[in-house]
Order: sequence, then structure tokens, then C-alpha cells
Amino acid sequence: MRIGVFDSGVGGITVLTELRRKFPTARFVYLGDTANVPYGPKSPEHIRKLSREGARLLRTKGVDSLVVACNTASSLALEEIREEMGDSPVIGVVAPGVEAVLTALQAQGEGPEEFTTPILVLATSATVRSGAYGNLLRAMLAPAAGRLPLPIIEQACPLLVPMIEEGWIDHPILHQTLAEYVRPTLESSAPGVALLGCTHYPWIQAAFQKALPGWQVINSAQAVAEFFHRQTPPGAPRAPSGRPTENQVEWVFTDPAAVPEFARRYMRELEAGKP
Ligand code: DGL
Repeated sequence: MRIGVFDSGVGGITVLTELRRKFPTARFVYLGDTANVPYGPKSPEHIRKLSREGARLLRTKGVDSLVVACNTASSLALEEIREEMGDSPVIGVVAPGVEAVLTALQAQGEGPEEFTTPILVLATSATVRSGAYGNLLRAMLAPAAGRLPLPIIEQACPLLVPMIEEGWIDHPILHQTLAEYVRPTLESSAPGVALLGCTHYPWIQAAFQKALPGWQVINSAQAVAEFFHRQTPPGAPRAPSGRPTENQVEWVFTDPAAVPEFARRYMRELEAGKP
């Protein structure tokens, strides 16, 4: 089994981490489009074009399934990516992200009749503009809630991906920027669940947690790996446990020089077989 993992940059590595745990015997090809990151401020047409090219490149690498580990591409270009991948299974991260929110709500004791916990989705501008999360959350929750509007807030955080790609994962400017982005929510809403709707954001999960006191911050990477596991055909290696092997990942970056040092360090650890 050769699983492709696609992101605009180093964000998808947060998803790859969980995929390796779930599929310890699979081989992975990770594609980070570092020559074109960030996707978030780009037009839907441009994102679709870049995503198509990414899928095409991964096909030439012989992948037989694909995890689109980028919320922006998942929100806007899943159809185009599926076209490029033919019959190979392709999943995006939006549906598993919504699943992760529902699981968190249930764990907080939210009943099927009424949902009152505020839901904050933090994502890129393109993801927020696409409405992908809001629409799916409303479709899943509205019938059960039996009332509208649901307490869903979608907040774009356009400066965060460039900072993370720059390696500023614990920089004062990052913390200040994050505080600005969440300020309107903190002023208008009681704490609830906050979904990291961009795969770059788990790199700075601690900063989100600090900026959102009392909120449950959700990284959906594990939900993505579980979702993909359910979709894989029988016969594929799906050992539920075991140690990920060394050199399990082929790394492809469209601009290798742009990969930040913290990600390189992490990649070296993965290459050494870190679980
Ligand atoms: N990791 C991508 C996502 O999940 C980041 C998008 C970007 O490049 O702006 O949306």
C-alpha cells in the first residue's frame, strides 16, 4: 500500500503522523507544495489548478490512495483531485474534522435534542469562504438540534500559515496575531469547542490553547486517520498496532529549500522510526 499525503506545505505532516500510527506497514509519499504555499489567500480556481497538479505528481510516484491533508484543497478541490486519481480512494479532511467535533460535543454531554456548545472553526480564508465546514456542520447538527441558528463561528487566520512556514511557531508575533484573531470570539461567545481547520495549526496547538482559555481545542488528525482506515479496501495492510518502520516516507517538496528547520528536525525523527 502506497499512500499519498498532500498539503500546500508542512501542515500535512501533522496528519501523516497519525496515518503512520494507524498504518505502520504502509509506505507513504508526502507532497508539500512549498513553492506555492500559502493556498489560503488564493482564488478557488488557482487552488484547484495547484491541487490537480499535486495529484498528478503523486500519481507519477505510484500512490494507490490519497489523503488530502490540506483543508483548503479539501474544501475547494476534492472533485478535481478525485478526477486526477481515477479509481484510487481519495479522502479529504473536512468530513473527519466534522466527525471530530461531533465526538467532542457528545463527550461534553450534548444531547441529540439541543446543541448549545459554541463551535469555533479556525481555518484559512479560502476554507472559511468556501463554507465547507459551516455547511457540513449545519447539515449534521441542524436536524438534531431542531433549532437555528446553531452557535457556529468560522474565523479565518490568514497570517498563521506564512508564519508557521517561516518557522515562527513560538514567536511573540505569532501569539499576538493569534490573540487578535480570537478576540472577537472571546468577546462574544462562551467557551466551547475549537476545531483546528487547517493542518498547519496543530504545529501551534499549544498557542491556540493559550489564546482560547476554557475552550477544547481539537486537532482532527487522528479522526482523519481513522476515517481513512474505514475507507481502505479489505486486504490492505491495516494492522491496528505496531511500530512505524524506518524510512517509511518519501518526501517530495516543490521547493525543498523552503522547508522550515523545525519540520526538517521532525522529519528526521520520523525517518529514524519514531512512532
Ligand atoms: N494546511 C493547509 C490547510 O489545511 C494550509 C493552507 C495554506 O497553504 O494556506 O488549509
